[in-house]
Formats: sequence, C-alpha cells, structure tokens
Amino acid sequence: MKVISDFLVIGSGIAGLSYALKVADRGKVAVVTKRECSETATNLAQGGIASVISPEDSFAAHIEDTMVAGAFLSDEEIVRMVVEGGPQAIQDLIEWGVQFTRNVDDTFDLTREGGHSARRILHAQDITGREIERALVAAVRRHPNISIFEDHIAVDLITEAKVSQHRNGPNRCLGAYVLDIRTNEVFTFGARVTILATGGAGKVYLYTCNPDVATGDGVAMAYRAGATVANMEFMQFHPTTLFHPHAKSFLISEAVRGEGAILRRRDGTAFMEGYHQLKDLAPRDIVARAIDNEMKVHGDDCVFLDITHKGADYIRERFPTIHETCLGYGIDMTREPIPVVPAAHYLCGGVQVDSWGETDIQNLFAIGETSCTGLHGANRLASNSLLEGVVYAARAAVRSLERLNESAPAFPTIDPWDSGSATDSDEEVVVAHNWHEIRLSMWNYVGIVRSNKRLVRALRRVQMIQDEIADYYWNFYITSDLIELRNIATVAELIIRSALTREESRGLHYNLDFPATDDDHWQRPTLLRKEF
Ligand code: SIN
Repeated sequence: MKVISDFLVIGSGIAGLSYALKVADRGKVAVVTKRECSETATNLAQGGIASVISPEDSFAAHIEDTMVAGAFLSDEEIVRMVVEGGPQAIQDLIEWGVQFTRNVDDTFDLTREGGHSARRILHAQDITGREIERALVAAVRRHPNISIFEDHIAVDLITEAKVSQHRNGPNRCLGAYVLDIRTNEVFTFGARVTILATGGAGKVYLYTCNPDVATGDGVAMAYRAGATVANMEFMQFHPTTLFHPHAKSFLISEAVRGEGAILRRRDGTAFMEGYHQLKDLAPRDIVARAIDNEMKVHGDDCVFLDITHKGADYIRERFPTIHETCLGYGIDMTREPIPVVPAAHYLCGGVQVDSWGETDIQNLFAIGETSCTGLHGANRLASNSLLEGVVYAARAAVRSLERLNESAPAFPTIDPWDSGSATDSDEEVVVAHNWHEIRLSMWNYVGIVRSNKRLVRALRRVQMIQDEIADYYWNFYITSDLIELRNIATVAELIIRSALTREESRGLHYNLDFPATDDDHWQRPTLLRKEF
C-alpha cells in the first residue's frame, strides 16, 4: 500500500498535533503514531507550560532564567523568540479546547518550578499534559483533512539521496517507510513535507519517567538519513520520581517543590541549602546531582520530598493525581515525605533545526523534544518544552506551507519496501536482552556523573550490540521491537560520542575528567553527522 499526503507527521504529542492542526486547512495530513494517539510523553506531563502572563513577570526575566538554567549554551535569539511566542501559544491551545486551572476571579492559576524567578507556569491541576493531549486529539479527530494511523511505526525516512542516484541540488525528504504493527506489512508514506515529532529517548536509560514510546525514533531516523544532530550529551534527569519497587518511575512534579516541598535526608535534615542559593528550587541539573551525591555519600537508596507542612486539604486539592497515586503505593504525602530518586526525563539535544524547525535535509522538519532548536542549551528550564512544541509547530507550519508552494522538482518514483530474503526470527529473546543491556550500560556509565573511562566502556558495549542488531535487521523480518532497539542503540551511541567530544562540564553533562566549564572552547553545540 502507498499513502500519499501533503504533510506526513510522525508522532502525536503536543508538537505533532499542534502542527497538524495548523496546516490541515491547506492540505492532506497523515499522522503516524506507534500506539494509541494519546500514548505520548505530553500525556504524562504534570507541571505545566511556561509563559509570561502575570503583570509581575517579564519576557526579560523568562529569557534570563532560561539562559541561566541552560548554562549559557542556549541561543539567546531563539530563547527570545520562543519566550515572546508564549502568549500566542497559550491562546492557540485555549482555542483548541485546552482548559487551564483558573482562580476564582478567572485569572490563570500560575505555579512555580525550579529555576523560575516568577510564577509563570500555567497548569491543569497536576495533569496538564493529559488535558492538552485530550483537547488536541479531539480537535485532530474532528478535522476532515487529518488521517490518523495508530499502531504504525516509522522504519526509515525516504530521501532523494536514497531513491535517485542522479539527483541535482540538495537532498530532499520524500516521506517514510512505515510498519503496520498489526499486520506486519511495511507501507510507503510519500509526502511533500515530513515532520519528525516523535518525542524523546528516555527509554535509552534503565530508569526513566518517560512512556514506553520514548525510544528516540526521530533522532535515529534523521541521523541515519544524513541530518545533523546536536547536543546529545544533554540528557536531563528529573530529580524526583517516586522510589518504590512497583512504581515505574512515576513523576513527582517539580511543581510540588514549586509550592514549597523540601528535599530531606532519611534523618530529616534538609540538604539543598548546601548546594545552591535557590535551595530546593535550584535548576534541575543541580538538584539531580545533589540527590545523586547525597545517595552516594550516605549510602541511601533514595531521598525524601516533604510537603506535609502545607496541610492535607491543600495537597489533595492541588495535587490530586500525585496524592492518589502515592496512596496507591501506601504513601500518604499529606502525613509523610515521599521517597524519591532521579530518572531520565528529557533529551535537550536532538535533530538540529533552523529557527523554522527545518533540518538540513530539505522538506524534513523536526519539532518538540526530537529537535535541538537552541532553546534548552545544556539544561532545559522546567515547563519550557510544551511551550517550545507549540511555538515551533506554528513556525514549521509557516515554512512548510512555503515549501508546498515552491515549484519543487517532480516527485521521483519510490520503490516499495523490499524485505529481501528475510525470514521469521527464531530468537526474539535476543532483542529483549540487547535492549536491557543498552539501558543498563547507559544507566551505569552514562548517567548523572560521567568519566571518560565509563563512557568508553559504554561505547564498546553499545557498538558490539549494534553489530548484532545490524545482522538481525538484514536477516529477519522487522518487528516494532527490533525497530525500537535499533533506534535506542543509535541514540545511545550518539549520546556517548557527544559526551566524549565535550571536554568540559556544563549543565547536565558532568565529567569527572573535565570538571570545569570551559567557555573558551565549548560554548558551542556538539554536532554529529553520519559519514556515508
Ligand atoms: C514536572 O512536572 O516536574 C515536569 C515539568 C517539566 O519537565 O517541564
């Protein structure tokens, strides 16, 4: 089967769906998504979306907070553009049906998170992402020009460089090969414009608060197709996920600290004062590293987040989902501190894009967590990511409509997917083992505190596994598990190689062999591009 559309959107979180809604009146849109439409990282976002709304706040303050959190690696022009786009992004979301929590006088209830100097986070109680995803999925489903392909996973991008040997001019993206997970058939999805909005890559690590879909598919496909990726060493670890043997790294929103919660040792001593003047509201890289250090120094499995002083009624009303979930694990956060540990949360690097979201392959865009726009620098400021997703969706829409109107060269013929002499695999367990080994190596050797020796050790392991995957890939029919394994291996390799390249410590990248920040040599992005 062949599906031809004007716009192919891969991914169905806030960035992909906002983009689809922005362009749908101007052409046919195909949205390809691996599971159900709403199974995305957006859906799990608790805290909210940052935007300057309060008269006591200012764009200048939001820009400064973003630059400081990003350890001055962010591109200030991009930061300004995104921050100033905040009010319009909020307006768009409201028009698509998102309902943010409001005060009795109908103003927005603004909360605070680490690194923010003002209350500027709009939220929907403690399930902001779920509310945004609900509204966007409903709006997308209502639009007659948008077709949604659930249980479909993109295998690889189709580019002019791949299909025609005798092309002139720049490489162009023509769509993607996509596996229908239910029938195991690979289809050609041709499109004038392709958008990568596949979210992040937390599943590269053993412990993550990301959903299962976060396997870095967009970054891996773009890299394989020849696009530049940037800043892959900057994986953000969220400081506070629930520590419990049966909780799969459930996030305890930073808004809990924003509303006054205090991090304590097992003996009850508050410890953040010793690490940063903003104490519990320090930027995330600092809090995660402090917790990692406390756990190592005191030999503890976790630290404790204490908001009991705020009173039971307030806690139940402000954090109903977190309260209920913790209760389900036998922890009553109104009476006792919550045991917490850091976990992989957000990829600050990604596919390098220009200020319109376009990659260095023409007609291929990357938006949301898949992209590296220059906003987050070496450490993302909390709640800037949902904002970036909406702002860049709108900008990518503008540029891709221009691309649609350009007199593009004729669409070359695309050969259907060829599985050659592949057969059914007799050892599916190899995929599961390799998956686990990558995630364990990344957690042990490429985590919050790194060293060159550990990075090299991890690289050796990942490269060995990549050889096995390549073997598997060519000899057996592909499955979604194998596609995801291949992608996490690629992303793991990119993270390690970027980490080895950056010979300094900055933001989320802390290397014991280079503990200082070196502005003279390293106040610039780390770039990787595949050699063909
Ligand atoms: C949180 O609620 O702590 C997550 C917010 C974010 O990562 O931006």
